[in-house]
Amino acid sequence: MAVERTFTIIKPGALQRRLVGEIISRFETKGFRILGMKTLKIPKEIAEEHYKEHVGKSFYKPLLSYMTSDPAVVMVLERENAVESLRKLAGATNPDSAEPGTIRGDFGVTTKKNIVHASDSLESAVREIDIFFNKNEIINYSDSLKEWY
Ligand SMILES: Nc1ncnc2c1ncn2[C@@H]1O[C@H](COP(=O)(O)OP(=O)(O)O)[C@@H](O)[C@H]1O
Ligand SMILES: [Mg+2]
Repeated sequence: MAVERTFTIIKPGALQRRLVGEIISRFETKGFRILGMKTLKIPKEIAEEHYKEHVGKSFYKPLLSYMTSDPAVVMVLERENAVESLRKLAGATNPDSAEPGTIRGDFGVTTKKNIVHASDSLESAVREIDIFFNKNEIINYSDSLKEWY
């Protein structure tokens, strides 16, 4: 299976609820390498670009105001089959349908205030990483886990 990069946003609600550590722990224990990570209050234009596929939908405006309300953590993650693996780890969009054991299944309360974003395809991942990260903010490194024991 190919090594891929994917993109996640730990959304403002997760910071407010002090769940960032729990969520990052799940990424790490699932074997994702963190190549880039930063905290920012997402500017409106950036949120619009990120969620442009949803323009005009009923939840679009509330989604933008939620995403820009408070800081979020954005990350570039790498592992084999990263895109599909992260979507599975995040769980279904509606937390009521998300399986227990997934991030949304365990911590999500409402769809509107979803606590994580995960890219839905390799193309989306490339596009979204480019929106949020400069090249020099992504550090590529090899997996030397075995050497640490
Ligand atoms: N029916 C809905 N009602 C309220 N908010 C929604 C709804 N559908 C989606 N959203 C919000 O918009 C975000 C983007 O939606 P979408 O791309 O369809 O889901 P996902 O985050 O699983 O990729 C969701 O994470 C959620 O916060
Ligand atoms: Mg989506």
